[in-house]
Amino acid sequence: MIKIFDNNYIRIDTKNNTLAFYIGGELPEIIYFGSKLKKKIDLTQLLGNTTITGVDMRDYILSQYGKEDFKEPSIKIKNSNKTFVSNFKYIDFKINKKLINNTSLPLSRNKKENICFILKDDINNITLEIYYSFFDNSDIISINSHLVNDGNKSIFINKIPSLQLELKTDQFNIYTFDGGWAQERMRHESIIKGGLFTNESRNGSSSNDHNPFVLLKNKFGYYGFNLMYSSNHKTSIEIDAFSHARIISGINDFMFEYKIKPHKDFLSPEAFMIFEKNQDTLSLEFHNFIQNHIVNPKYKHLLRPILMNNWEGTNFDFNEQKIIDIASVAKEVGAELFVLDDGWFGHRDNDNSSLGDWIDYKKKTGGIDILADKIKDLGLLFGIWIEPEMISEDSNLYQIHPEYTMKIPNRTPYLHRNQMMLDLTNKEVKNYVLNCLRNILNTTKANYIKWDYNRNFSDVYSPKYSANEYFHRYILNLYEIMDTITKEYKNVLFEGCAAGGSRFDLAILYYMPQIWASDNTDPYDRIKIQTGTSYAYHQVNMGAHVSASPNWFTKRNFSLQTRFNVACGGNLGYELDPTKFTKKEKEIVKKQIEFYKQNRELFQYGEMIYFKDVYKNDIGGFIVLNKKHQEGFIVLTSPSLINNISIKIPLLSSKKKYHLSGVDIKYDEIIHGNKIDLYNLFNNIEDKANYDLYSVMIKLNIA
Ligand code: DGJ
Repeated sequence: MIKIFDNNYIRIDTKNNTLAFYIGGELPEIIYFGSKLKKKIDLTQLLGNTTITGVDMRDYILSQYGKEDFKEPSIKIKNSNKTFVSNFKYIDFKINKKLINNTSLPLSRNKKENICFILKDDINNITLEIYYSFFDNSDIISINSHLVNDGNKSIFINKIPSLQLELKTDQFNIYTFDGGWAQERMRHESIIKGGLFTNESRNGSSSNDHNPFVLLKNKFGYYGFNLMYSSNHKTSIEIDAFSHARIISGINDFMFEYKIKPHKDFLSPEAFMIFEKNQDTLSLEFHNFIQNHIVNPKYKHLLRPILMNNWEGTNFDFNEQKIIDIASVAKEVGAELFVLDDGWFGHRDNDNSSLGDWIDYKKKTGGIDILADKIKDLGLLFGIWIEPEMISEDSNLYQIHPEYTMKIPNRTPYLHRNQMMLDLTNKEVKNYVLNCLRNILNTTKANYIKWDYNRNFSDVYSPKYSANEYFHRYILNLYEIMDTITKEYKNVLFEGCAAGGSRFDLAILYYMPQIWASDNTDPYDRIKIQTGTSYAYHQVNMGAHVSASPNWFTKRNFSLQTRFNVACGGNLGYELDPTKFTKKEKEIVKKQIEFYKQNRELFQYGEMIYFKDVYKNDIGGFIVLNKKHQEGFIVLTSPSLINNISIKIPLLSSKKKYHLSGVDIKYDEIIHGNKIDLYNLFNNIEDKANYDLYSVMIKLNIA
C-alpha cells in the first residue's frame, strides 16, 4: 500500500482515496489528499509551483513559529533558554516503525501499516516523529506525533500536533456539533472563506459544548476529523489569502505547558481524518471504524441487552421494595438488564452528599449485595451507577481526606451540583478510586456499570504539578483507571455517561462501548441529538431510552409508539417507573421489546443513516439496512400529521424497487427508487392526540 517513487514521492492508497507526500524539501509535504488517483499518475505534477518557497505557502506536515509562518502553528515549544523558536527539519522516514507507547493514552487497534517521518530540531536537540497509520478496508487515516527531548535540559511543550493538513480551497462549509446539557451535539454550519475558525473545549472534558468531531465540505467532497481524546481539544481551520487552508487538531494549547525532562518523551493523542465524496459514506466509514478499531473487540458485534433504568422513574426516592417492583415489571415486559442509578450509597437522598463514599446505603437498598441477588433471581442482569471521579463536601471521604479534592489552598472551591472533583493526578486518589470500583463490582457481582461524570473542572491545583499540566495528567490517570478496571472485569459491560452525553468521544468508547447520549429523552429533541451524534458515532454507541410522557424535562407529550421508534435509533433501553404502566401500555411495551429482540441485530449493527434537513432541522428520522441493502426499517418522524412532502431516503438506490409495509400503521406500497411520499402517511397513525412529534416505522424489503 505504501509506495515510494523517485525517492522523493510517497503514495498511499486507502479503499477509495489517495494520500501523497513529497519529501524532497525542508519538511515533508502533503501534495494530495482526496479520491483515489489513477495508478499511473505522475506524482511530480502534484507538487505545484516549487518556485513558491515561503514556508507558509508549502503544504508541510508541521508548522512552527520562528520563520515567516505567522498562521496558527501546530507546534510550540518553550526551549531551555526560554525562546519559542523551533527549526524542525526532515531527517528520514520509516515504514512500519513501532510506535513507542509509554503513556496510558488509548490508541486505535489493528493498524495495518504506518509511515513515520522523523524530524529533528538540531539546535534544541528535539526529535519529532509524525506517524500516519492506515487500516484494512477503511478510508480512515490516523495521525499523531511523538516527541523526544534528546538534550540535557528540560523543555516545555505549549502545543503539539496530532494532525496538520494543508489543502487548497477557497471555502469550507464547516459542520460542528455543539450544545450544552440536554442539547448535545446540535449540528451547526458555518462558512469560512478566509480567517480562522476553532472548535475547542476548555472544561477538562471533550465536552457537550463542542464535540471533537468536525466535518468540512468543499467542491471536492467531505473531510472528517476526530480526535481520540477526552480532555481539552482544539481543531482550527485557517484559510489565507492564497486559498491555502490549514487544519490542525490536537490537545488544546489553552492552559497547556507540559514539562519534558532530558531524555523523556511525549505522545500526542491520535487524530483521524477521512475524505469522502458522499457525506453518508463518511459517517458509515466512521461507524465501521469505531466498531473495528476503537471499541474492545469483544463488543464489535455483541448484541446489547435491553435495559430498564430507574433514574427518571424514581430519582433518589426509592427503597428496596420499589426497586424490586420496578425490576419485576421490567422482567415481565421482556427487559434483560436492570440498572440501579444514583442514590444507593452513603446517605444519598439528594445531590448534596455522599459522592466518594461508595458504601451501601443499607436503609434504602436492604443490602446492595442482597438486592443485586434478588434482581438476578428475577432473571435479569444487574447494573449499577457510580460517579467515581467526584467527592461531596458532606462525605466521610472529605472529612478524612480533604486533600483528595481538586481545589486550591485558601480558596473556596466552586461547587457544581453541590460537588467537587477528585484530584486524579494524585496516585493515592487513583488507587482509592480503583479500589472503590473493585469493591462495588466484587460485592454486587454487577454485570454492568454506568460511569457518570456530572461536572467539569474548576480550581485546578496539584501540590506536585503545574496547573498547565494538570488537565492532561488527569486524563492519563483516568485512562489508566478505566484500562485497569475494564481489563480486570472483562465480563462487565461499561456505559459512559457525563451528565448525559458531555464526554462522548472515541477515547471513552475505547474503554466503554456505549455512552448515554443525553439526559434529554424528549423524542423531538432526542432525534436531533441522535442525528448530530450519528455523523461520527455508531448507533450502538448511543444509549437511547423510552421514558415517561409528559417528558420530565420539556413537559411535552408523545405517544409510546414515537418514544419507542426514536429510541430504536440508538441502543434501546427504558427509563421510567414501569409499575405505573396501564394494562394497555404494558402490552404495548411487551410487543415493542419482542419486536426489537427479533430485529436487534439489524437495529444495533445495520447501516444506519439519519435524515437531515427534511424539515429544516434534524427531526426527519432514520433508515437502517442490512449490509446487502435488501431489508431494513425506516423510521419517519414529523411535527404534524398532515405532511405534503416527498423525501429522498439515503442508502436506497434510485434504480431498485422496494416493498414498504407499516410496522405500526396500516400501509403497503411498492416504490420505484429512493423517494417516499409522506402524503397522508402519518394520518394512518391510530393515536391522533396532539403531540409535538409523530412517527411511523416501516419495514423495507427489496421487491
Ligand atoms: C446524570 C445522568 O446523565 C443521569 O442519567 C443520572 O444518572 C444522573 N446523573 C444521576 O445523578
